[in-house]
Amino acid sequence: MGQFSVTHHKMIASTNDEARRLAVEGAPHRTVVHADEQSGGRGRLSRRWFSPPGNLYISIVLRTGQPPSRTAELSFVTALAVADTVDSLLPQTVRATLKWPNDVLVDGAKIAGILLEQVDDATIIGIGLNILQAPTNIAYKATTILASGGLASVDQARDSLLECLGRHLEIWSQDGFGPVRDQWLERSFPIGAAIRANSAGESIAGAFAGMDADGALLLDTPSGRRRIVAGDIAIGG
Ligand code: BTN
Repeated sequence: MGQFSVTHHKMIASTNDEARRLAVEGAPHRTVVHADEQSGGRGRLSRRWFSPPGNLYISIVLRTGQPPSRTAELSFVTALAVADTVDSLLPQTVRATLKWPNDVLVDGAKIAGILLEQVDDATIIGIGLNILQAPTNIAYKATTILASGGLASVDQARDSLLECLGRHLEIWSQDGFGPVRDQWLERSFPIGAAIRANSAGESIAGAFAGMDADGALLLDTPSGRRRIVAGDIAIGG
């Protein structure tokens, strides 16, 4: 699958914006933009992403050659790679967990976020991993590698992440979404956990029933099984 080719910036508005620009210019598969700081870091659902120095901000241009219907699967492939990276940087007793669609948590607090965007036939995967600093003025709990008992330089985290991503992409392109889904479920909530999904302005409480073959969240509610394709979930009904 070839190597990653990394361009480093001290400060940039958003590595995703720069990766998009490069993709439009025809940047090849595995082009990587890495920045020490972002002045306009973007999160999912039009949120901002806290981007001070000391954390990892990276965006990867992928041209997988797979049909567009498979693009959303990359979000889970990436979440697994980030979870493996986090595990590699933390004491062995700690294990990252996953929250649909692609939050990576340690002890229930978010340690990394993933933002997938599509530009023509290229997919941009943006990853923010909190190593030294976590935001405090937010609606959810956040943590860092340092606060979770680990120690890593940003470059060490980046190299580990690219290595893990390369490995998971290989499994995905060779063996399909099945093994990705299995591993994702193994790191996610237990089936039956009480969760609440916020999707298209609706708040739906139910029991976590897994993820279907297309990556949609399955939720058992008093009025039957719901299939959620976009949105966010919170723990507890
Ligand atoms: C989320 O909301 O959970 C996704 C956050 C994604 C943040 C990363 S940091 C690197 C890349 N550049 C951005 O502007 N956003 C992503």
